[in-house]
Amino acid sequence: MPSTPLPAAFLPFLLLLSCFASCGSAKSILRTLPDDPSFRLSTGRSRSPNNQYCDSWRLSVETNNAGKWRTLPAKCISYVGAYMNGEKYQSDSDVAAHDALIFAKDLTLAGDGKDIWVFDVDETVLSNAPYYADNGWGSESFNETSFDDWVYQAKAPALPSSIKLYNELLGLGFQVVFLTGRTEIQRNITEQNLLDAGYHSWERLILRGDSDIGKKAVTYKSGKRAELEAEGYRIHGSSGDQWSDLLGLPMAARSFKLPNPMYYIS
Ligand SMILES: *[C@@H]1O[C@H](CO)[C@@H](O)[C@H](O)[C@H]1NC(C)=O
Ligand SMILES: *[C@@H]1O[C@H](CO)[C@@H](O)[C@H](O)[C@H]1NC(C)=O
Repeated sequence: MPSTPLPAAFLPFLLLLSCFASCGSAKSILRTLPDDPSFRLSTGRSRSPNNQYCDSWRLSVETNNAGKWRTLPAKCISYVGAYMNGEKYQSDSDVAAHDALIFAKDLTLAGDGKDIWVFDVDETVLSNAPYYADNGWGSESFNETSFDDWVYQAKAPALPSSIKLYNELLGLGFQVVFLTGRTEIQRNITEQNLLDAGYHSWERLILRGDSDIGKKAVTYKSGKRAELEAEGYRIHGSSGDQWSDLLGLPMAARSFKLPNPMYYIS
């Protein structure tokens, strides 16, 4: 569990939960799934006590008030399904990407190839929502076997807001680094999935090597950021769905938390 207190710079992220102009046009990345009515949030303001509780639970998770949590509350399974399957997830992600882009556009880059943006992979540039849709949306304990089976299919779609941000950042002259908790064994399949999803180039894809196995994500990822900085890279921005993608020194100049109510990684 990250022990660093949340920097004040993260507070604007709370604005994520408000719905901006992109709301109406967002498209679910799970549109191919059957249209299960139990996964549909009622339009307008739902008065369901569960929905209200689960909305608050999600805020607690996203702000890290919840700290370490294992599986989502049983009464929130259909809420999380509706959130992930509906337009709100896309909208929240769009706003995070939009805020990141506003920050990125304001920067003056040195143009020496050392200006980087770090992206996490799972639930950041690639979405495993189709897997979680078939596995209780995070209500079941993590099954490494079935999740790895999914990873080896290399079928995870791109998060639409992230691939858009990725392309904009490349256009602005950033180098992109992917920093993932996946292991070296999964390098090829991860590269294939990234390419198939539309991520055509990157400065580096960093996966857990032998010496990284067993490290907490926050330790592993901040350690890799330290190595990048030691090589002269300037980490302007970082995007991730877990606080452990973002916290720990050195941090990026700005960090952007993407939504994920399905699981927590410390
Ligand atoms: C995990 O997934 C595998 C492959 O789908 C399955 O055979 C196994 O029963 C699952 N384990 C648990 C504990 O659910
Ligand atoms: C990854 O791909 C490269 C070349 O395509 C190949 O040489 C290598 O053996 C592959 N590694 C794994 C672990 O599959």
